[in-house]
Amino acid sequence: MQGKFITIDGVEGAGKSTQIDFIRGYLADRGIDIVLTREPGGTQIGEKIRELLLNADANMHAETELLLMFAARNEHIHTKILPALAQGKWVLSDRFTDATYAYQGGGRGLDNKRIKQLERWVLQDFTPDMTMLLDVPVEIGMQRIASRAKDRIEQENLDFFQRVRNAYIARSEQHPERIKLIDASQSAKNTSNKIQAILSDL
Ligand code: TMP
Repeated sequence: MQGKFITIDGVEGAGKSTQIDFIRGYLADRGIDIVLTREPGGTQIGEKIRELLLNADANMHAETELLLMFAARNEHIHTKILPALAQGKWVLSDRFTDATYAYQGGGRGLDNKRIKQLERWVLQDFTPDMTMLLDVPVEIGMQRIASRAKDRIEQENLDFFQRVRNAYIARSEQHPERIKLIDASQSAKNTSNKIQAILSDL
């Protein structure tokens, strides 16, 4: 049987890492081992591309950024995600294509049609079975990551992240069946409870 592909996404400081630990534990308790992965990255080549993308010392043209996100994604789906699903494993990816619509589309202002073209080329009709979108107001997210060293994208300003957040919310409205919008502005426990309710439905 084909496994399930779940993705988790959201603005900076939404608490993805904590919730990924929770999801992994919750599914393990029910006998489901998941393959944990992330974007950009998740493969040897993908992690190298990630270094290029997030290197805080170098500027990058917005369309180069978009193409590199999809180059990493191409490697990711063909060499890791699809083979794992075909073996019946569940895969949980920390970010996926929704992040491209949010960051490169919303944040950088690139045309969604361009993103859609690349999505069709690289993914054809492949989409996650379910996406958990952790939503927090940008100011709260930024406060949560204030003490961290910032990578190239995290160094953007509040307006950029506001556009990212708006684009994520718009995506959840366009794909209400797949994308579960989760208010992650309260405690981590509160968010985990919401995720648990969603997972038990799945
Ligand atoms: P992370 O903070 O979840 O490790 O993700 C790395 C950064 O990459 C984050 O700032 C969001 C950004 N990103 C994009 O801009 N577009 C994408 O398609 C993906 C997957 C991530």
